[in-house]
Amino acid sequence: MSTGFRGYLRRGFDRLERAGDVVFGPDANPLAQLGALGWFLFWIVAATGIYLFIFFDTGVVNAYASVEWLSDAHWFHAGVARSLHRYASDLMVAVMLIHLVREFCLDRYRGVRWFSWLTGVPLIWFVYISGITGYWLVWDMLAQYVAVTSTELLDWLPIFGEPIARNFLSPEALSGRFFTLMVFLHIAIPLILLLAMWIHIQRVSRARVNPARPLAAMVLGSLILVAFVLPAQSQGPADLAREPTELGIDWFLLPLYPLINILPPGVIWGGAAIFTVGFAALPWLPAQRANRAAEVFLDHCNGCARCVEDCPYAAVELVPRTDGAPFPHQVAVNAGRCVACGICMGSCPSSSPFRRVGDLLTGIDLPDYPLKELRERVISGALRLEGSIRILTLACEHGAARPGLGTVFLPCVAMAPPSLIDFILSRGHADGVCVAGCAEERCQNRLGIEWTEARFARTRDPYLRRRVPRERLVTVWAGPTETARLERERVAFADRLAALPTEAPRVVRQSDPERVLDEAAM
Ligand code: HEM
Repeated sequence: MSTGFRGYLRRGFDRLERAGDVVFGPDANPLAQLGALGWFLFWIVAATGIYLFIFFDTGVVNAYASVEWLSDAHWFHAGVARSLHRYASDLMVAVMLIHLVREFCLDRYRGVRWFSWLTGVPLIWFVYISGITGYWLVWDMLAQYVAVTSTELLDWLPIFGEPIARNFLSPEALSGRFFTLMVFLHIAIPLILLLAMWIHIQRVSRARVNPARPLAAMVLGSLILVAFVLPAQSQGPADLAREPTELGIDWFLLPLYPLINILPPGVIWGGAAIFTVGFAALPWLPAQRANRAAEVFLDHCNGCARCVEDCPYAAVELVPRTDGAPFPHQVAVNAGRCVACGICMGSCPSSSPFRRVGDLLTGIDLPDYPLKELRERVISGALRLEGSIRILTLACEHGAARPGLGTVFLPCVAMAPPSLIDFILSRGHADGVCVAGCAEERCQNRLGIEWTEARFARTRDPYLRRRVPRERLVTVWAGPTETARLERERVAFADRLAALPTEAPRVVRQSDPERVLDEAAM
């Protein structure tokens, strides 16, 4: 559990997310799906933008009138689309900012995860610039203010031969071509944003880009409601002969504009540059002390690709076999992408703690926390268990569990192969196993909870064997501020175990067919 400023923020977020779970339910909690919500809002903005474009007059003379026409005469479809376009853009800013703070709190931006952070930084600017160019097109007084302020700011940079603010000196000076350029930018920049969003998720496999349906419906419904209650309005036609006085600012998309009026352009550009560079450099300030990447042991790898399927960071890939073994493929780890969560080790069919002969090796292992060490920690943790009901807890480092007797920490609970549960129970190391991961829908390693549940439910390889008494296994998904709930669940589990008929710990005989399979898999 992180300490200091980030730890403080993280606990705050965790509490907010708890509240979100109560209000929306874990599946529809917006705080757990901010990236996906960002994508969803982008599509709303894109769809409504295309619709608005059908009615919009791209000439500077008629632009304002065409926007007014769609907001007045055709308010019931085009006006609603306009409001949706505006409010979804505003919400996208809010969602993006909360998303980046959350990723920071969860410490998911350093080490090999720098890529998502770094590619997120330009998204901030693309979102803002898309919104700013959108406000120009309405060609009302706010548009005039935004256009004049932006061009004056741009003119400070020595990139344009002619000052572009001259376009706004008088109504006659504003050329239709310049306005068309603005229309072009308002289409081109969101397209670049889309490309940048796609790049942003390239280092996470199975990135969640669609929010849960109830959440999507709720967001769309709320936006439509706001569109009806508070329809987007223009602020009077632009008049370059007059300076706009009273203006309503969109504080989501234009929060810097009042500042631009007060501060010299050099300060604004300098501030923007420092913010961008500083923000982009955050993953290295300070850099994360990274664990070593997973390692492949070809003698135990038949290229079955389960680890490739399960890796949340697209860090494992299938490559042609190199050791002459009779399999077409083997796996290779891209160390630049591996966060050492151990999920690959948990997915490997060779990861069996039952083996007695030779060194305990598997097909893919963590050099800093190998399967062998996990088994040792489990055995020594079990030896220290006290009382009549002995519960061994396999706990995620990022969840609710705190160090204590019988708690073995893992970078992700999906690092524990299902055979480890079998091993603990069938060898009588404990009466019950509690798997304590991150809060539901909020796995630190994105897919750990999903894979663990699927393996236990026997819907995803490697399956938890049927012989494992399911009543002796409990999963608790709880965030870092839910230690008390985890304790309550453990006590309730202990009570259930106590009520079970006592049975002698199962002794695995040499002739046990599953044991033979274990040995054969080595
Ligand atoms: C248009 C705005 C953005 C959208 C639509 C977006 C979308 C996403 C999506 C879909 C994911 C994957 C979530 C998952 O499946 O677990 C993600 C992850 C992430 N995003 Fe964003 N994002 C946006 C902006 C940003 C910004 C501005 C930053 C930070 C500067 C950022 C930093 C991250 C990080 C660090 C991750 C985590 C990657 C990991 O788990 O390793 N994002 N984003």
